[in-house]
Amino acid sequence: MKVTVVGAGAVGASCAEYIAIKNFASEVVLLDIKEGFAEGKAMDLMQTASLNGFDTKITGVTNDYSKTADSDICVITSGIPRKPGMTREELIGINAGIVKDVSSNLIKNSPNTIIIVVSNPMDTMTYLVHKSTDLPKNRIIGMGGALDSARFKYRLAEALEAPISDVDGMVIGGHSDTGMVPLTRLATRNSIPVSEFLSEDRLNQVMEETKVGGATLTKLLGTSAWYAPGAAVSGLVQAIACDQKKMFPCSVLLEGEYGLNDICIGAPVILGRNGIEKIVEIELNDAEKAHMQESAEGVRKTNDLL
Ligand code: LAC
Repeated sequence: MKVTVVGAGAVGASCAEYIAIKNFASEVVLLDIKEGFAEGKAMDLMQTASLNGFDTKITGVTNDYSKTADSDICVITSGIPRKPGMTREELIGINAGIVKDVSSNLIKNSPNTIIIVVSNPMDTMTYLVHKSTDLPKNRIIGMGGALDSARFKYRLAEALEAPISDVDGMVIGGHSDTGMVPLTRLATRNSIPVSEFLSEDRLNQVMEETKVGGATLTKLLGTSAWYAPGAAVSGLVQAIACDQKKMFPCSVLLEGEYGLNDICIGAPVILGRNGIEKIVEIELNDAEKAHMQESAEGVRKTNDLL
């Protein structure tokens, strides 16, 4: 199993680190445009191998896509991250050109690859990969919902004063401050709906904290987060590499599901060796449906900027 991660910044390096630590891939290639940067990150990570007990071989390359040839999975993290006060949507001007070039270079060298898009605005960048390449839809996956759901579970556990392993929940919709749809109605603690323990007000607060999860971190860190994004990507990569048939909310091209067409937006999917094996359509209530439609309108507005 060969995995390429494009962009050796904090998110890309975190991805490579978590993939290596989970020890399921034979090879991770880290690629960056900055001379020597990916090589340095790869060497530093490889020097953790004996300490952390992994055998994944990590190599770094400066913009040499021939070294990524025959990758089973490619992760695109390249582009600029947001600064405090910026929305993910404001990154489109610079990141669209980068993501288009990167995906075309990757596919030239790995025509059978599965692509995971992390660059923001993520849903629109995932849509761009659909529009600018001829990869089938099961092989283009946007990473947002897995991260947003992890942040949702963190906030739920905090509100419930419970360990995170007691909590389950999912965020669908767009990966943006206004677009996320945290499904509080379906969230549980040990299979009991969280509404048994938390007031509507407290649940609304959890929902709001989840939606601005990325912005809260950007304000604290001065740039966007990397540990949870890296860990979320590694979860998707592992589900594909190990054919786990695990369910994650991911940005996926919808063709009628959830009443939406010609848009990439977060919905639950089953991930396995073929990438997106299935889109799971769950019954939403009227408020959730309206929230999902509103979220789609926001994503479409950003798509129009392409
Ligand atoms: C975040 C970025 C990765 O939400 O979109 O932290």
